[in-house]
Amino acid sequence: MKIFLDSANLNELENCLKRGIVRGITTNPSIISKEPKTNFVKHIQKMADLCKNYNQILPLSVEIFTPNASEMYAQASELLQTIDYKNINIKIPIGWGELEVIYRLSREGIPVNCTCLFNEAQCMLAANAGAKYVSIFMGRLKDIGADPLPIISNVRELLEKTNSQAEIIVGSIRHARDISDAQQAGAHIVTANMKFFETMAIHPQTTKSVDGFLEDFKQWLSPIKV
Ligand code: E4P
Repeated sequence: MKIFLDSANLNELENCLKRGIVRGITTNPSIISKEPKTNFVKHIQKMADLCKNYNQILPLSVEIFTPNASEMYAQASELLQTIDYKNINIKIPIGWGELEVIYRLSREGIPVNCTCLFNEAQCMLAANAGAKYVSIFMGRLKDIGADPLPIISNVRELLEKTNSQAEIIVGSIRHARDISDAQQAGAHIVTANMKFFETMAIHPQTTKSVDGFLEDFKQWLSPIKV
């Protein structure tokens, strides 16, 4: 399973890049609004430049920020022209007008991440329209009392049955455990904040084992008493 970073924070991005642990980056307008106010395109360019500096041309999902479907294509084209990076993916929320934009961009070879998906029907429409990624929001499904896991499994099965190339990204992660649950349910990719990766790297038995090794070695290294 691939892990993507769900953040627009330059520090978090660099920390992930220097560890080589993520295979892509996802952002959305709320995530960007958590960063210090600056020019939107300049900020995305900084993220892209960091990836280039680390020689990791990862897919970088940038969400359009107009609610008007007829303006989405123009905004996406402008972003693609202004940002100097070979792997910009355009993130578009699902919707009737939006499907037309997803289809148009996909036919032009632009990778689309269709976002804010909450059920099988939405995912299949997005995949049929040519979206490269279908992003299911796990935490927000739980927020309304729904169980995201069967939805993820069903979508995976449907994508496979229809020979679709689309990949499932599960986002809206609230606990480190959600990451393995989503993976087991059939997610191709999980996108999450860096804090969850830090948690995943830690296990009390690892700490205990390493402390024990160092303690034993310290005693062995100490001068032999004669
Ligand atoms: C995924 O691409 C989204 O950015 C994201 O995970 C949204 O999650 P939230 O519910 O934490 O806003």
